[in-house]
Amino acid sequence: MAPSEMTALALNQRSWLEILFNAIQGKGISHGVSVKKVQRLSIRPSELLVKVYSVACNPTDVAHIDIVGPAHSIVSCDYSRVVEEVRAAATELWKVGDRIAGVVHGGLFPDKGAFAEYLKVPSDLAWRPPPSMSHQNASTYGISAVTAMQALYTKLDVPWPGSNNSTPTNSTILVYAGSTTASLFAIQLSKLSGYTVVTNCSPHNFDLVKSYGADAVYDYHSISALEDIKKDYPNLKRAFDGISLKESTRFCFSAVEKSGGKVVVLLDTVKAGRKPGVEIIYILMYTLLGEPFAFVKPIGPSFKAEPADREALEKFYKNLRLKWCQEDLTVCWEH
Ligand SMILES: NC(=O)c1ccc[n+]([C@@H]2O[C@H](COP(=O)([O-])OP(=O)(O)OC[C@H]3O[C@@H](n4cnc5c(N)ncnc54)[C@H](OP(=O)(O)O)[C@@H]3O)[C@@H](O)[C@H]2O)c1
Repeated sequence: MAPSEMTALALNQRSWLEILFNAIQGKGISHGVSVKKVQRLSIRPSELLVKVYSVACNPTDVAHIDIVGPAHSIVSCDYSRVVEEVRAAATELWKVGDRIAGVVHGGLFPDKGAFAEYLKVPSDLAWRPPPSMSHQNASTYGISAVTAMQALYTKLDVPWPGSNNSTPTNSTILVYAGSTTASLFAIQLSKLSGYTVVTNCSPHNFDLVKSYGADAVYDYHSISALEDIKKDYPNLKRAFDGISLKESTRFCFSAVEKSGGKVVVLLDTVKAGRKPGVEIIYILMYTLLGEPFAFVKPIGPSFKAEPADREALEKFYKNLRLKWCQEDLTVCWEH
């Protein structure tokens, strides 16, 4: 049984002026977080209480600390732990002591967040890492992995690996900035679906992206990279913009423009403009968690619950646990 209090890394109170400064400067001007004693979490029948071993850090953790999250929210999203407590509705899936990993919406709520001794998670939105996988590695199958999954299977019409949908004839995908963590998962998952992956990154990462399955890699610093890709792959219809800066989104637009394709972006790069016939789709992985949320209340944007996204996350973690890891496919390599 977990104690009545636990230690967690939680957001400090910040003034509106401070938040504004942080947003303009692109970095925090003061200590946004402190180690605090917070109340023990109570779980609903379908939830699990898990105990921390490992966490992973992501750019979004910093954004929540500096700008987005309210005071007292527990920070960070990716975790790998063991199950500490199971309630009735979850006993078919889990038992105390099972290894468990996944992602929660850290930085926005006082009772969710991975940088804590204990964490509560929905029992159907987590996965069971194989015994051979370290907790450190297991904790990296959170934000980056599920973002890649969301882009490919819910937005870019890439078939789920092993699904009966045959791979379409135009089955090449551009993964821009192949060496970001999100892109490395996009490369691996695209390969599992039978796609050809074209990517770009700095030359020091060419071998890395190839080792994850990339079929062709270009140097994004080269002034001819866009024209080279367009010449070599004139029928590109899909792009995953794994860095999502203005220039990268413009690059992706241009690469898929001829075929009237789709580009998934991970940051709101609408300022990059639009191209007639090209669809730009901004995703936020938090919609996979199936609950409504809002940033910088009450003036910021709010997001509604997306049941279809939640189903996709459940399916992803089920497949990761039951199929892809057992088959020793690349997504479960130890690195
Ligand atoms: N919407 C969402 O739900 C969501 C989820 C996850 C991530 N994101 C966003 O996606 C982006 C990637 O996140 P991540 O955690 O995967 O990144 P990461 O692992 O920290 O990415 C590091 C890599 O980015 C590459 N890079 C840096 N500047 C670049 C540029 N100007 N052009 C191309 N590549 C560049 C570098 O590659 P080289 O060394 O090869 O140059 C570097 O190795 C971040 O902006 C993050 O906020 C959004």
